[in-house]
Amino acid sequence: MTLAPTVEPPARAPAADHHDLDRAARRVLVTNWRLGATVPARHLYPHQWSWDSAFIAIGLRHLSSVRAQRELESLFGAQWRDGRVPHIVFDPQVPVDAYFPGPAFWRSGAAPGAPAVPTSGIVQPPAHALAAWATYRADPAVAHARGFLPRLYPRLARWHRYLLDRRDLGGAGLASIVHPWESGMDNSPAWDSPLSRITPVPPDSFTRRDLAHAAAAERPTDLDYGRYLRLAADYRDAGYADSPDVHAFAIEDPLYNALLIAGEHALADIAAAIGRDPAPHRATADRLTAALMSRLYDPAAGMFFPRDVHTGRLVRSWTIAGLMPMVVPGLPVARELVATALGGRFRLREACPLPSYDLAAPDHQAGRYWRGPGWVNTSWLFWHGLRLHGETALADDLRDRLLRRVREAGFREYFDPLTGAGHGTDGFSWTAALALDLIRAA
Ligand code: SER
Repeated sequence: MTLAPTVEPPARAPAADHHDLDRAARRVLVTNWRLGATVPARHLYPHQWSWDSAFIAIGLRHLSSVRAQRELESLFGAQWRDGRVPHIVFDPQVPVDAYFPGPAFWRSGAAPGAPAVPTSGIVQPPAHALAAWATYRADPAVAHARGFLPRLYPRLARWHRYLLDRRDLGGAGLASIVHPWESGMDNSPAWDSPLSRITPVPPDSFTRRDLAHAAAAERPTDLDYGRYLRLAADYRDAGYADSPDVHAFAIEDPLYNALLIAGEHALADIAAAIGRDPAPHRATADRLTAALMSRLYDPAAGMFFPRDVHTGRLVRSWTIAGLMPMVVPGLPVARELVATALGGRFRLREACPLPSYDLAAPDHQAGRYWRGPGWVNTSWLFWHGLRLHGETALADDLRDRLLRRVREAGFREYFDPLTGAGHGTDGFSWTAALALDLIRAA
């Protein structure tokens, strides 16, 4: 069973020196819990977000396994008929002007096969099968009593099937993202070049809400937003149909596909646990791993890069996404990725959380969203990968430094990887959730 190192149920209570941090992290998750799901942050992100919920469940399972199960069930309750899991599930109780772009922009109600609850029409990285398996492992008895895995498994399988079939825009088996928001790393420097081809909507045609809750210097720019909105509106106006003609932005992203592969391994474990055949999931994982290696790995660089489906070329931008295949069980180049992480671009031994973007790049910005700061989720994934590939000493060291950072700066959204200064919003759910998980591995 491949995912054992990080998803085993916690045998231990938090060590005494983590009690205060543990209590504070629980408080964040309790404060951000709504009716059946957790908001990523009270003001900046007041609805349910897809990959946030996966990371939140991984922490929430230590606080309440039932809540962790409900977190995922609530998200998959908004799954579309074609299998897609929307990146935002809107809470109808929240005022419409609290977040932009909201339901009036996405108009999911007019799309075929969308659920009754309003959602966005794009997706986010598929961390959910991993989270579901981790949640199950935390409390199998309660999961059995609630029928958690038998109910969720078909939905998870349909979600992956959507990505494998409808999103194979490059024709090589890998899933493509069709919007920077789908990558989870919205304003990653890797998207600068593919986005430069997109005509932004006029700046006076929309009003951002994010800037009321976070400093403009720490968020994407207005020009970024103009392009995000153009892409999203074009997709919406095509009825959320998936084809290379609709998608002016189409990228095979290493982070996205690495999570899909890790997710197929988790689905195999889940299938076996409920008496279904795990073999097709293992076969898919193997096929995708081969495609990941041949399409996105650059042996000379010791790094994975995204491939732009429209140009056919790799985008040679050194972002943390290129290290994320560490989460793939059996990855043949784990040692090479560790060497890259230890080098001057990511400085694994000092930088914490790991920078989202090359520390040595002239356009590294240590406080601006995904253009430099370190985020706890990608560092958690790398930590998970280090353990998966037997790099225990490096994993333990990263875990201890992550916990120290959070203790010093708080449950911030992102951090300057070298000074540790906190940036973005505070009371951020996945920072708290993954701290809870790391504490239990300490
Ligand atoms: N991450 C984006 C935001 O900032 C979209 O999900 O709102």
